[in-house]
Amino acid sequence: MPKNPIRKPLVAANWKMNTERAEAAALAKNVVDSIGRQYKVDVVLCPPYIWLHDVGMIIRDSNISLGAQNMHWEDKGAFTGEISSIMLKSIGCKYVIIGHSERRQLFGETDENVNKKLKKALTVVLMPIICLGETLEERESNRTAEIVTNQFRSAFDGISDFGGITIAYEPVWAIGTGRNATPQQAQEVHKILRQMLQNKTAEYENIRILYGGSVKPDNAAELYKQDDIDGFLVGGASLKAGDFAAIVQAAMI
Ligand code: PGA
Repeated sequence: MPKNPIRKPLVAANWKMNTERAEAAALAKNVVDSIGRQYKVDVVLCPPYIWLHDVGMIIRDSNISLGAQNMHWEDKGAFTGEISSIMLKSIGCKYVIIGHSERRQLFGETDENVNKKLKKALTVVLMPIICLGETLEERESNRTAEIVTNQFRSAFDGISDFGGITIAYEPVWAIGTGRNATPQQAQEVHKILRQMLQNKTAEYENIRILYGGSVKPDNAAELYKQDDIDGFLVGGASLKAGDFAAIVQAAMI
């Protein structure tokens, strides 16, 4: 089935734990200058929490939205070092990344946590970008479908309304390694995810599934041509405004 035009492409920048204050501001300004007025692609910047306000002010009059890289599932309380969804809303976030593989692998985030965060994000009307993907070992032992299927089931347990949800397929072996999934490898998993969505909701054709993992200006167009790839979650390449803008351009065709 060809790509369904009902899905507006989305390209999100995950700056991770990068940028000092002045750099973050300069990067956001450069992104606004290059792609801040286009309306064909939904563009999201996810800076570190501490620069959300600064970046939010810079993108305020553009078509770019603000997102966070993580959140806690409680509204407030004794959770030292955590940030709640309510706080993110009040600083102007529209999106939030949930379940990034670095959170899962380095900070012990579980499928159960991902599910709790997702439910909370939906309650406060933050648009979640739910990440899932297999490790190299899992891929090499032919367990990719099983892993992403299980992650999908756990993440969306108890969810029936998928409005506002985006999924990001990010094979762990492709993140920050310079080794992207081939368009065919990515499409194969995206198709599985689309079928899982179809089993859950009649709205499955409306839900965006992003690819993430070493997306660069020179591989984005081929990836985007795949029927079920609706945009990108970009790490390293989002730290250069020119590269990020080129990736957004690739999702306009
Ligand atoms: P990368 O990161 O583009 O640097 O591989 C992607 C991500 O972690 O979201």
